[in-house]
Amino acid sequence: MIAVGTAAIAARGRFLIALSGGSTPRSLYTRLASPDCADRLDWSRVQVLFGDERAVPPTHADSNFAMADQTLFTPLRLAPAQIHRMRGEDEPEAAAAQYENTLRRFTAGGGGAWPILDLVLLGMGEDGHTASLFPNGPELHERTRWVTPSYSPQGTRTRLTLTLGVINRASVVLFLVAGANKATVVRHLLEPQTDDAVRYPAALVQPVAGQLVWYLDQAAAAKLTRSQQTCHPERTK
Ligand code: 6PG
Repeated sequence: MIAVGTAAIAARGRFLIALSGGSTPRSLYTRLASPDCADRLDWSRVQVLFGDERAVPPTHADSNFAMADQTLFTPLRLAPAQIHRMRGEDEPEAAAAQYENTLRRFTAGGGGAWPILDLVLLGMGEDGHTASLFPNGPELHERTRWVTPSYSPQGTRTRLTLTLGVINRASVVLFLVAGANKATVVRHLLEPQTDDAVRYPAALVQPVAGQLVWYLDQAAAAKLTRSQQTCHPERTK
């Protein structure tokens, strides 16, 4: 992630990253903000976006912004102008439209060109959802909107999410997945035996021109029959 950010800053003077929600990234954000890591990236050049948000205020325990603020933004003392949260407290359609306008500020081509984010960080649920794109959700078929409301079958029901059109145009999409409860879906996605992976929204993350990277802990990778990537135990902490 730091390498991607450093390259983006060198190439374009800034790093556009969309953070994931959920609990898995908590340890990553904490590590990024730690004294032995914080100086490895010029955070003053980073613009932070979100891949999704729950329909709750930014101070709510379920807020993806709240978790990132506590573990990353506050420790790094990021300027508010660098942080672009989805307004989960607002009416969902209005919040989605507002966030699409926010993204337009970062769209080089203006007009209808899709935003090209440098890195989209994603998690994955045990049902194969990612961001707030859920199995059989109509948002999976969205072809023009950049941000849309969606509805989770559990937890905080109403969500806001980047659509696949935005996610799949990122330069790098990085899945960070941990836990034995994800191992079956990880196997279906990375070593499909049949076409059973197609029902998972995570299977629809297919970068148009960018790189797709999976970071798995050993529990989530346990059902893979062969190494899909060189294992770096020190990186899975
Ligand atoms: C969210 C996330 C969601 C998350 C997965 C995995 O807002 O919940 O964006 O896609 O990444 O549900 O969540 P855990 O990391 O808690 O397993």
